[in-house]
Amino acid sequence: MKAIEISAYGAPEVLRLTERADPVAGAGEALIRVAASGVNRPDVLQRTGHYPVPPGASDLPGLEVAGEIVAGDAQALAQAGLRIGQRVCALVAGGGYAQLCVAPVAQCLPVPDGLDDVEAACLPETFFTVWSNVFERGRLQAGETLLVQGGTSGIGVTAIQLAKALGARVIATAGSDEKCSACVQLGADHAVNYRTQDFVAEVKAHTAGRGADVILDMVAGDYVAREIDCLADDGRLVIIAVQGGVKSDFNAGQVLRRRLTITGSTLRPRPVAFKGAIAQALREKVWPLLASGRVRPVIHSRFEAAQAAQAHRLMESNQHVGKIVLTW
Ligand SMILES: NC(=O)c1ccc[n+]([C@@H]2O[C@H](COP(=O)([O-])OP(=O)(O)OC[C@H]3O[C@@H](n4cnc5c(N)ncnc54)[C@H](OP(=O)(O)O)[C@@H]3O)[C@@H](O)[C@H]2O)c1
Repeated sequence: MKAIEISAYGAPEVLRLTERADPVAGAGEALIRVAASGVNRPDVLQRTGHYPVPPGASDLPGLEVAGEIVAGDAQALAQAGLRIGQRVCALVAGGGYAQLCVAPVAQCLPVPDGLDDVEAACLPETFFTVWSNVFERGRLQAGETLLVQGGTSGIGVTAIQLAKALGARVIATAGSDEKCSACVQLGADHAVNYRTQDFVAEVKAHTAGRGADVILDMVAGDYVAREIDCLADDGRLVIIAVQGGVKSDFNAGQVLRRRLTITGSTLRPRPVAFKGAIAQALREKVWPLLASGRVRPVIHSRFEAAQAAQAHRLMESNQHVGKIVLTW
């Protein structure tokens, strides 16, 4: 098969089109002929040597694919209500930038009605991450307020839409006025340009001084103290990335006085059973929203897989709103 490999850690040019042996599906796994592979920021971190591959995972980058099941564990497929020939999208721990990809059956989901393979390839990484962090760890409820940092990221566009569809109020931050407009078009009740406005003051102003019930944070660093300042009593701060640094200096007194929760997670190293449980929740609660068009994939650009370096360059330029996809 053809695949895109990381030939050495470094700039986008280290992504090379190569030939690899076809992978083989083992027990509990499906082999997918990949039509499209989603690009995510963690792929960029892996390429630059800042995101080690979990034990047992492919060294090829790529955390999500869509395509057709061409082989696999017949019993596991039947139990999951899937079959050979079916179009699916899948969350994988690596190996997504390839014409063939093995995925645990538990992490495969049927392509939602009405979506094509490119749209479906955009779903797994951000929907699994947002579901697990915003709705499970963060326990966001209808009627509560969510602050999404990085509202136009792949993660952000999913978080805004899902939270709105499930009845929450959403405030999002972004780095330009154009991106703020995109957040509002996606359903955010209010967007904050974090380069020109203070998100703490904005959140307080738009919640009558109460603060946000849940914050989805991909910055950390000096954001943590400010986020604590604009969390409501009993609020939950969920950290999924540390783009602003790993060290934070904050007032721990507020955490106890106002019963705040600071949590976080990384999806990739979690076991198949954990990811399978998220897949089931998504299939039940979120796939109908995608099929009805209430929630939609937001695609900024698609590239032929051989142009993977260009796709990474675009991601690093931070010009995109939503997802970048590779096609085979
Ligand atoms: N923990 C997990 O399981 C998990 C899973 C997937 C992804 N992630 C992480 O989640 C983040 C988003 O991933 P992605 O693939 O969606 O990446 P992406 O589309 O490249 O998004 C990166 C985002 O970070 C925003 N950002 C950077 N500095 C910011 C700041 N100071 N304030 C507010 N926003 C800021 C950017 O906003 P502007 O462009 O507007 O500046 C951009 O929207 C990445 O950091 C990724 O590593 C974590």
